Amino acid sequence: MAKYRVLALVTYLMDLEKKIAFTKDISQQDSSRLSTEINGASPPSRFSSQNLTLFYNRVPKTGSTSFVGLAYDLCSKNKFKVLHVNVSKNAHTMSLSDQLRFARNLSHWDLKQPSFYHGHVAYLDFAKFGSLSPLFINLIRQPLDRMVSYYYFLRYGDDFRPHLIRKKQGNKTSFDDCVKDGQAECDPNNLWLQVPFFCGHHADCWTPGNTWALEQAKNNLVKSYLLVGVTEQMEEFVAVLEATIPNLFKGALKLYRQGSKSHLRKTNRKLPLKAETIAHFRNSTVWQLENEFYEFALRQFEYVKSRTLKPDLSDKGQQFFYEKIRPK
Ligand SMILES: *[C@@H]1O[C@H](CO)[C@@H](O)[C@H](O)[C@H]1NC(C)=O
Ligand SMILES: *[C@@H]1O[C@H](CO)[C@@H](O)[C@H](O)[C@H]1NC(C)=O
Ligand SMILES: *[C@@H]1O[C@H](CO)[C@@H](O)[C@H](O)[C@H]1NC(C)=O
Ligand SMILES: *[C@@H]1O[C@H](CO)[C@@H](O)[C@H](O)[C@H]1NC(C)=O
Ligand SMILES: *[C@@H]1O[C@H](CO)[C@@H](O)[C@H](O)[C@H]1NC(C)=O
Repeated sequence: MAKYRVLALVTYLMDLEKKIAFTKDISQQDSSRLSTEINGASPPSRFSSQNLTLFYNRVPKTGSTSFVGLAYDLCSKNKFKVLHVNVSKNAHTMSLSDQLRFARNLSHWDLKQPSFYHGHVAYLDFAKFGSLSPLFINLIRQPLDRMVSYYYFLRYGDDFRPHLIRKKQGNKTSFDDCVKDGQAECDPNNLWLQVPFFCGHHADCWTPGNTWALEQAKNNLVKSYLLVGVTEQMEEFVAVLEATIPNLFKGALKLYRQGSKSHLRKTNRKLPLKAETIAHFRNSTVWQLENEFYEFALRQFEYVKSRTLKPDLSDKGQQFFYEKIRPK
């Protein structure tokens, strides 16, 4: 017994010696990093203010252009980089080789300052590629509103780039008529977008109405997303981000409230829907699952918001402290 204890002690001392030798090699600036290493904690993470990497894998037609506009307006002042990940042909998913390239690149590209990536791409599990995960954020919207907004956007554009000719420019068919005529464009299956975006790169994620995909989307939201807001509460979303990651979002709420042009993007001409159109969607499995996901995200956002912000949306500040620290 005693022999083993001595052996363990010797091993421990040798290990300690190695750590001390290692300490001497490292410059003074890295001392805080070292202390975490010696304590056996994980190596410097993406959360160090210098290397903080945020990934906003934006869902189309959720107000993402308005939100990204804020980041572009703040990046010079708050000293961070903004990068658009242009996934060609708006595919929403990447090939396996691109996934690996992207995961490796994002976690090894030392931009020497915090960075904010955004792009229309489904959730990616960075751990699967042996890479450090960025902090994910996202915004989602009531599923039917999102679809209707997209429908009219293709016909009438928006006030962001009013002169751009859209794909269905000149088509005057209303969404109600499109549904009534049973047109493919207005099939409830087209609602299936927010669930697969959070579910990720598995084939089943993209099968409309798949219940496994919904569970996976919920799990990813809980486990991998720092924050998921809702388009209907964009101001509150900005406020929570500013309270949580001030080194990127300091001043964001004020800027958002001033509502400079870049933060507003409204699809032109949106007609209210007929009751039977809404009933038709509510009756579909796809709407039901998409809506369940939206409600799930909304409950979580309300909860986070109430714990983080005061009623006027200002930061509650740190509400914990350390005490009974021993030995003195
Ligand atoms: C930032 O990342 C680079 C390379 O990825 C790494 O060498 C450096 O130690 C990191 N800095 C901090 C403060 O974590
Ligand atoms: C992405 O790249 C394609 C091809 O270069 C370009 O046509 C498209 O406008 C880009 N997308 C955005 C949102 O900038
Ligand atoms: C990441 O990609 C960029 C642009 O393609 C490239 O300049 C950079 O060297 C890459 N970094 C790593 C670590 O692969
Ligand atoms: C307009 O859009 C509707 C719905 O997709 C479609 O059924 C109709 O054929 C379109 N009209 C024209 C003139 O392209
Ligand atoms: C709802 O769906 C069921 C089964 O698919 C169908 O029988 C019923 O007519 C639908 N009701 C409406 C209002 O669309």
